[in-house]
Amino acid sequence: MEVITSEAKTASYDTTLLRRIVKITVFTAAFVVVPCFFFYNSAFSFQFLPISAKGKEGYKLDKILKNAAMGDKTVILTTVNEAWAANNSLLDLFLESFRIGNNTQRLLNHLVIITLDPKAYARCTTLHPHCYALKTKEMDFSKEAFFMSHDYLEMMWRRIDFLRSVLKMRYNFIFTDADIMWFRDPFQRFDSKADFQIACDYFNGNSSDVNNSPNGGFTYVKSNDRTIKFYKFWYSSRVNYPGNHDQDVLNKIKHDPFITKIGLKMRFLDTAYFGGFCQRSKDLNLVCTMHANCCVGLGNKIHDLGIMLHDWRKFTSFTPNTNSTSSSWTVPQNCRCNFLTL
Ligand SMILES: *[C@@H]1O[C@H](CO)[C@@H](O)[C@H](O)[C@H]1NC(C)=O
Ligand SMILES: *[C@@H]1O[C@H](CO)[C@@H](O)[C@H](O)[C@H]1NC(C)=O
Ligand SMILES: *[C@@H]1O[C@H](CO)[C@@H](O)[C@H](O)[C@H]1NC(C)=O
Ligand SMILES: *[C@@H]1O[C@H](CO)[C@@H](O)[C@H](O)[C@H]1NC(C)=O
Repeated sequence: MEVITSEAKTASYDTTLLRRIVKITVFTAAFVVVPCFFFYNSAFSFQFLPISAKGKEGYKLDKILKNAAMGDKTVILTTVNEAWAANNSLLDLFLESFRIGNNTQRLLNHLVIITLDPKAYARCTTLHPHCYALKTKEMDFSKEAFFMSHDYLEMMWRRIDFLRSVLKMRYNFIFTDADIMWFRDPFQRFDSKADFQIACDYFNGNSSDVNNSPNGGFTYVKSNDRTIKFYKFWYSSRVNYPGNHDQDVLNKIKHDPFITKIGLKMRFLDTAYFGGFCQRSKDLNLVCTMHANCCVGLGNKIHDLGIMLHDWRKFTSFTPNTNSTSSSWTVPQNCRCNFLTL
């Protein structure tokens, strides 16, 4: 039942597979309710060769991070594969959102796009100055990966390990999935005292409550001893929860006394600012980012994010004399969580 794409190479294949999954689900679990949040909505992930800060790769990565970093050594990181970086795919929408967002264009100077295959790297270099080709093992990231398969889990964990190495190199980062549109500078909405901040599929109104439903597709992490310890703990916890992905394990370890012991300040970001299709940022006057979460299928994401950018353009085209307070999103459309009508 919990079978899902790690983003198909093509949207049509993705949809065909999904239909098959839906059929199986319907026939084998007719009486089981399948809420959309059982489907993992984060970006595909990757495997990479370990990066040592002193090795050749570490040196190369450090050079790219240094070129992109803000004055306080903060970088914005995202990952793309061939399908996401293709013409008119998610990467184009992602970059477009920075250009039409309010004061977000300048943030592109600090964005490092981590590419997972040679075609994605080639496309990246035509669009953006800071591209880093992650050295991957012989895995093929463009093919369909089954949710919770061995390869899928391995890839998810490598992402945590990669981000840990960025923290160890003393860079703060915002990690953002490329299916998140940026409309406003998020820094104004972060808690300046927090170490680790993470977006939510569903926000319960209390940013310090660990019972929120975090989504690892958007995190803001400051590099310090606490966060390095935390990422090490998170990564090493995978052996205590075999068969779980990083987000499941985060949901378990966020209650662990170790977090309190190391003094890590964890905060959950309000969907009023960091929204998504699960729970939208209702007020366009407040929204910072919107994630195509609660959405299965690359084609559906591209479709609805395109409409989302259109909604934003319409909102920002209002002059001060016209009333824009009644503006609202017209999405999700194809991304609705109604699998039975696909
Ligand atoms: C990308 O697609 C647009 C049409 O949507 C086309 O005009 C453009 O030439 C394409 N670019 C490349 C590099 O293929
Ligand atoms: C964009 O930002 C400027 C300055 O921060 C602000 O005055 C303006 O109202 C913002 N526009 C929108 C659409 O939020
Ligand atoms: C928010 O959650 C924290 C941690 O669970 C708790 O200590 C605090 O009382 C909560 N705040 C409110 C207003 O409920
Ligand atoms: C703008 O629209 C909102 C919601 O429709 C309304 O509450 C508000 O009074 C309007 N403001 C102006 C200045 O017309």
